[in-house]
Amino acid sequence: MKQFVVNGNIVTPDEIFEGAVFVKDGKIVHVEDGSVDAVALESEDIQVIDAHDQFILPGAIDVHVHFRIPGGEAKEDWTHGSKAALAGGVTSVLDMPNTNPPTISQKLLDEKRALVGKDAMVNYGFYAGATNDNVEEVAKMTGIAGVKIYMGSSTGNLLVDDMKVLEDFMTKTDHLLVLHAENEACIREHMAEHEGEENPAVHSQIRDPECAAQAVKDALALAKKHKRRVHFTHVSTGAELELIREAKKDADYITMDVTPHHLFLSSKDYDQYGTLVRVNPPLRTEENQHLLWEGIADGTVDLVATDHAPHQLKEKEQIYSKAPSGLPGVQLMMPLLFHMVNEGQLTLEKVVELTSSHPAQKFGIEGKGAIEAGMDADFMIVDLQKLERVCHHYLWSKANWSPFHGWHLKGWPVMTFVGGELRYEWRDKFHEGKGSELTFVNSSS
Ligand code: NCD
Ligand code: ZN
Ligand code: ZN
Repeated sequence: MKQFVVNGNIVTPDEIFEGAVFVKDGKIVHVEDGSVDAVALESEDIQVIDAHDQFILPGAIDVHVHFRIPGGEAKEDWTHGSKAALAGGVTSVLDMPNTNPPTISQKLLDEKRALVGKDAMVNYGFYAGATNDNVEEVAKMTGIAGVKIYMGSSTGNLLVDDMKVLEDFMTKTDHLLVLHAENEACIREHMAEHEGEENPAVHSQIRDPECAAQAVKDALALAKKHKRRVHFTHVSTGAELELIREAKKDADYITMDVTPHHLFLSSKDYDQYGTLVRVNPPLRTEENQHLLWEGIADGTVDLVATDHAPHQLKEKEQIYSKAPSGLPGVQLMMPLLFHMVNEGQLTLEKVVELTSSHPAQKFGIEGKGAIEAGMDADFMIVDLQKLERVCHHYLWSKANWSPFHGWHLKGWPVMTFVGGELRYEWRDKFHEGKGSELTFVNSSS
């Protein structure tokens, strides 16, 4: 089957131009400048989509999701997670290792792979999880997107709080290291100080900006010592950003991402959302939120990733000390960013860079991240004028709630294609089809 998507505004990181995308056998075979007569192209084996007044963007690549398989089926699975991704214009995801059991060996990875392959409707890759004693095993693992290293404990029991072990991961493996940078000792000290407090806002004091900055400093020192590629995920404070901005000046092997919830929510929001917005790293002050947007503007922030970490509403609604950390995000990243395009805060070109071209480049994902001949035909069609209220009836994650429920957002994906197949149409139409496992070029250097 061939598809022609014509008369749309094609968005690259550098420009927007009216054009047509020609697709065959799952790949983009040709991109043509200018308008074409849609009716004249129609024939029996060609599907022609007229994207007049709409934008064509490469599918978003979310390098940080928790789709919870195996062991967390009550919170999320790949059927629901894929639908949430598709409705959000996300065509590829990288899945975190804090499952049950955690993905800490080749055998456990292969078991996860077999389960996910049956249900994934988007493309996928996997992280291995680092522990204080699996560096030799991880060094031998193949086919992974990278290694997630929890420098401070979060949901699940993965933790590397020994800097000697972190250094071993840098020197003894050649995988991309993705760091959850919060210092464990710092968190524990504050936890003891705030023992018994149940105001959800205490979360931001326990895991304060100093704990994050300390971990970033420690990791940067080691990365610089070994000139070792590392990626900081869910960076949430101005202090971390400044450390990374400085370090990047002579180290292009350091990259970072920020999440939509740190960009769009702040510690003020505990008043309204309480434990629902308990997340690691925690929500920060509006000042920090502002500094993250500055980091986007000046290019310190390489990409946006959601840290889609679904938990059931009934779990989240418990008292602070019992509520798990994490919130769903994969479906609303693009609408939130499109909204900011309409607000004049961002350009569409920048959105493509942050959500597709940079994720593909920095994570070494083959065949993705651009609307160009030869690339896989993963793309979305966006109606930038569509104004809709976020409503849980149309949220597809098993965690059928969102702090953004009720927000009015302008700019939504209306069609999502994976490997040349139409998988999603606004607002609730999904079409069967499987995602493929991503392949990576060696990304350690
Ligand atoms: C994540 C989860 O629930 O798996 N929670 C979170 O608060 N971000 C774990 C993580 O990425 O730290
Ligand atoms: Zn994390
Ligand atoms: Zn996470």
